[in-house]
Amino acid sequence: MDGAAAPLITPLRLDAGALHRSATHPDADAMTFLNEIMARYPDAISFAPGAPHESFFGGIDIAALVDRFVTYLRESRRLDEQAVRRTLYQYGPSRGIIVDLLAAALAHDLGMPVDERSLVVTVGAQEGLLLTLRVLCGGADTVAVVDPSHVGITGAARLLDLPVVGIPDHGDGPDLGRLRAACAAHRVRVLYVAPDYANPGGTRMSLTARHELLAAADELDLLLVEDGAYAFTAGPDDLPPLKALDTAGRVVHVGTFAKIGVPGARVGYVLADQPVAGGGVLADALCTVKSMLTVNTSPIGQAVIGGLILQHDGSLRALARAKATLYRRNLTHLLGALRRHVGAPAGRTDGVTWNEPDGGFFVRMRLPVEADPALLERSAGQYGVLWTPMRAYYVGDGGARELRLACSYLSPGEIDEGAARLARLLTDVCPDR
Ligand SMILES: Cc1ncc(COP(=O)(O)O)c(C=O)c1O
Repeated sequence: MDGAAAPLITPLRLDAGALHRSATHPDADAMTFLNEIMARYPDAISFAPGAPHESFFGGIDIAALVDRFVTYLRESRRLDEQAVRRTLYQYGPSRGIIVDLLAAALAHDLGMPVDERSLVVTVGAQEGLLLTLRVLCGGADTVAVVDPSHVGITGAARLLDLPVVGIPDHGDGPDLGRLRAACAAHRVRVLYVAPDYANPGGTRMSLTARHELLAAADELDLLLVEDGAYAFTAGPDDLPPLKALDTAGRVVHVGTFAKIGVPGARVGYVLADQPVAGGGVLADALCTVKSMLTVNTSPIGQAVIGGLILQHDGSLRALARAKATLYRRNLTHLLGALRRHVGAPAGRTDGVTWNEPDGGFFVRMRLPVEADPALLERSAGQYGVLWTPMRAYYVGDGGARELRLACSYLSPGEIDEGAARLARLLTDVCPDR
């Protein structure tokens, strides 16, 4: 360099305030904190993750599932070896490569006609939610969500800079009076709802509430984004999803294989059969947007899920059966353990209450004190039990004194011990206990 001094370069340091608000939002910090505290207290019993039970993973043979799907490609779709390889290893169609299997399974399980052209296979339900909001909502549209709601929907709205309004969950789905008021005050385009054992509230909507919500959607000219993540975990007495009751085309149904299959495959789907003036259906628009986001869902992940569907005689309900049994066992066990160790939820004087859902992964507990990160830290460090603070699930200012208990991931012994530890924490922190 002929002795010339190198110019002084100050390494770039980005201003957090200049990043998109979704990158620095406190709700993201709440989830990071939860992961971090689980890592710091590995021996604590954790009621935090709403993850599938890992005993099911032992029965999964990826190679056999892919083989099963490949045999299907050869025999039913009559693909030669080169076409089979291309289907699995090449970029693929944005719509996905298992829509035929999925359409047949949904039609079989839900007893309704499903055209494969109304389906899009997505990278988990999460991408399905994001695509649906992106296609349906413009800048001035507001997204209504049942409050509290899965952080994935409020997070997706935030990524898209869409305003969100919370509609309180009155225990049987969204409060329709509050929905009407929200529609009068804002340009609400969609309402997100999870009718089957919602995350985090555990609410399951009755059949009557489902019909009333569909009628309200028609009256208010809304589209309902139905999240069916926990639907097939309900067991034999499950209720029809909103989509199966939807005669007016008001429902976009989002599903996932994370709870009934393998979350690591990252496969979900959207059923969007609404005709679009000028041609096609809503699913086509979702495919167009998907082609600019993830291009296509991994064909290898789809092959695993395709193999699972084939292995269960083309039925999602059959695929879910063993899991539904285990999840119901765990939930029954958790509710029993809470009664044994904490007491009966009704008629307490100390302000500790909880719901007793009959399915799903979650129990919502209310405390007379704040269920904040400081209490969680104390709970983990001194009592060896973890749970999820509910604050981040609320759009409004609710949830400060609520926590979520998930039981999907634990054994009955861990549930028992976890409930006993939680009871000790509650005795020490709730004034009247
Ligand atoms: C209600 C709900 N919807 C969607 C998802 C995300 O599903 P996926 O893993 O398929 O993106 C979850 C995950 O926990 C959930 O609880």
